Amino acid sequence: MGLLKLDVFNVRNIEYARLEPAPRFNFIYGLNGSGKSALLESIFLVGRARSFRTANLSKVIRFNANEFVVSGDICQGGKKNTTIGIQYNHQQLITRLDQQTVKSKATIAYGFPLQIIHPKSYRILDAGPQIRREFIDWGVFNLSADFLPIWRRFKTALTQRNAALKTRLLNQVRVWNPELAYYGTIVHEYRSNYVYQLKPFFLLACEQLLGTTEIDIKINSGWDSVLTYEQALHKSAEKDLRYGFTGQGPHRGDLSVLIKKKQAKDYVSRGQLKLLVLALSMAQITMLQKSKQQLGCFLADDLTAELDNNSKEKVFQCLDEMKVQVFLTATDKDSFVKGPTVGDHKMFHVEHGVVTEE
Ligand SMILES: Nc1ncnc2c1ncn2[C@@H]1O[C@H](COP(=O)(O)OP(=O)(O)OP(=O)(O)O)[C@@H](O)[C@H]1O
Ligand SMILES: [Mg+2]
Repeated sequence: MGLLKLDVFNVRNIEYARLEPAPRFNFIYGLNGSGKSALLESIFLVGRARSFRTANLSKVIRFNANEFVVSGDICQGGKKNTTIGIQYNHQQLITRLDQQTVKSKATIAYGFPLQIIHPKSYRILDAGPQIRREFIDWGVFNLSADFLPIWRRFKTALTQRNAALKTRLLNQVRVWNPELAYYGTIVHEYRSNYVYQLKPFFLLACEQLLGTTEIDIKINSGWDSVLTYEQALHKSAEKDLRYGFTGQGPHRGDLSVLIKKKQAKDYVSRGQLKLLVLALSMAQITMLQKSKQQLGCFLADDLTAELDNNSKEKVFQCLDEMKVQVFLTATDKDSFVKGPTVGDHKMFHVEHGVVTEE
C-alpha cells in the first residue's frame, strides 16, 4: 500500500488534520473552499516536496502562521515503513526521512511515487515543453536510480558551456562539447527507452478511456536527429555564441502525443484532453508498479468535473484495475456513487479545513 498516515499542520485553511487512509480508495468531499485541494496538496507535498498549485510555498502556509508541516508514513510492500516530513517556514524547506534531515529534495521526490490529475493538468499537453520534460523525467527518475547522477552531470556541463558562451570564446565553448554531448546523449537514451516502455501502458489506458488505439507518443531529442549530439553542438557553436546559450539538446527535448498522426492537443476536446492526460499519468503509475513492484498513489482533484457519466465510469474502472491507492475529491458524496464498490475504501468529509472520517 502507500500512505498509512498523514499529519497536516497549517496548510492553507487546514490548521491541523490527521488522516489514516484506506489502502485503495479514499473519497474526499466537501463544499467549495472547504479544503479538499489543500488536503491533496499536503499528500502531494509528502510525495514530491513541492506543491502542484504554486511554485511559491509561502502561499501554502496558513494565513498568519509561521510555517507548515506535513508528515506521512509510507509503506512499500515488504520494506520497512518510512516517514517523510516536509516543513517550510517562508525561507527554508526542510525535508526529513525518518526524522533525519536530507539535503537533496530529490531523495524525497522519488521516495513515494505519486501522480496527480487536477483541473489544470491538461496543460501537460497544452503548454510549453518544460512541463512534459518534467513529466517524463519524473518517470525516468523513479524507474532508474542511476538516472539522477547522469542528469546532474548533464546539467553541470550545460551550465559550464553556457558560461563559456558568455565569454564569447569559441575555443572555450568547444572544450565543453564532448562532455555535454556524452551526458546529453545518455539523458535522451534514458528518456526514449522510458517512453518506449511506457507506450503499451499508455495505449491500453487510451483504449479503455477514449476507445481508440490510433494514438502514439514520441520523444524528441532536442537536436537535429540526423546528427549525433556532438555533431549538432559543433555545428551550432557559432549560432549559440550569438545567442549566448546552448540552443540544442535534451533541455529542448519534447514529448508529443499524436492522435491519427496529428498533434492530439490541436484536435481533441477538453474532456478528451483530460482523459489523455489521465491515461498518461495512469500509465506511469501502472508501469512503475509492474516493473518495480513499487506501489504508487494516484490523486485526482475534481476529477469528475468536465467528464460525462460514461467517461466517469470508465475512469473508475481503470482506477479499480490499477490496484493503487487512490484519493479522489468532489463537492458532493454522490459523485462517488458510480465509483468502485470495493469494501476497501474510506470516506472523508472536509468542512472549513476540518477533516472527519465517516
Ligand atoms: N494560505 C492560506 N491560508 C489560509 N487559507 C487559505 C490559504 N490559501 C487558500 N486558502 C483558503 O483555503 C480554503 C480551501 O481551499 P481549497 O482550494 O483547498 O478548497 P477546495 O475544497 O478544494 O474548494 P473547491 O471545491 O472550490 O476546489 C479556501 O477558502 C481558500 O481561500
Ligand atoms: Mg479544490
